Amino acid sequence: MSPHELEERLLALEREAAEAIQGEEEVSGLEALRVKYLGRKGLLTQLLRSLKEVPQQERPRLGQLANSVKASLEKRLEEAKERALLRERERALRSETVDVTLPGAPLPRGRFHPISQVMDEIVEIFTSMGFQVAEGPEVEWDYYNFEALNIPKDHPARDMHDTFYFSSEMLLRTHTSPVQVRVMQRQRPPIQVISPGVVYRRDSDISHTPMFHQVEGLLVDEGVSFSHLKGTLGFFVKEFFGRGTEMRFRPSFFPFTEPSAEVDIGCVICGGRGCSVCGGTGWLEILGCGMVHPEVFRAVGYEFGRLTGFAFGMGVERIAMLRYGINDIRLFFQNDLRFLEQF
Ligand code: PHE
Repeated sequence: MSPHELEERLLALEREAAEAIQGEEEVSGLEALRVKYLGRKGLLTQLLRSLKEVPQQERPRLGQLANSVKASLEKRLEEAKERALLRERERALRSETVDVTLPGAPLPRGRFHPISQVMDEIVEIFTSMGFQVAEGPEVEWDYYNFEALNIPKDHPARDMHDTFYFSSEMLLRTHTSPVQVRVMQRQRPPIQVISPGVVYRRDSDISHTPMFHQVEGLLVDEGVSFSHLKGTLGFFVKEFFGRGTEMRFRPSFFPFTEPSAEVDIGCVICGGRGCSVCGGTGWLEILGCGMVHPEVFRAVGYEFGRLTGFAFGMGVERIAMLRYGINDIRLFFQNDLRFLEQF
């Protein structure tokens, strides 16, 4: 190769490489160009092998030229790489930017189940009258659910309860009344408790579910009379259903109270004129109640006579249905948000 040709080819290589570097935007592409032109097996190295073919006196000049081509390409590569890195960083900054002024994505808001709301409201009304909350187990002994409440094994009242039994002695409580017995066993009067909770009966239709909720009340002290019961429940009815709500006591029967009564309120749908909800009577039953039976006091070791008391129990689902005009109890447990979000 002649010195002239080598010079030409060195300059051509510089132009070609400079152009390639100029057109390359990526850091990785620039690295590939460095290897291609300046690497140990690169084009420049290959070209320099021809140096030994040129006459001795031309070599220093061409060697110098080769070195300056190499230096200038290295400089271009370095600068191009810096620009590419800068661009990459800017691109990353732009795509990863957090706009702190954007409104946040709203989280869906939960709410309390209507049964929980109604139960809380009932409890609130009674605690405002001095009742304290007492709780008991849902898996209960036959003794507390029945025996101690004056319902022996062969008592016909057991038929009303459609009980889930685990064994002859253990069951799912069918009402919250066993909590009365547990409270009286561990505590001396005066007693004034309210007991909200879950109960179970083998029953399922438009107004019954196998699991539902009750709130129980118990007040025991010296000189407690039926008028205290009436005053307490009257206050509750007016607080919960509204000042103008009518109320009546109807004689009834429970083995653990004597006398016993059921409380009706004036129909919240028709206002007492008679409709399909109240079956034309103008009245809706909301709870059972009565004076604590002497047999119950005997079971917990209280002396009857000096001590008297009243008890009541109400179904929370039924009360919620009356409050909101719901005609199918199963709606509470199907977890359809279109229903639940209305409360
Ligand atoms: N436990 C009764 C029931 O489930 C309700 C009740 C409670 C009645 C307390 C009287 C006194 O039907």
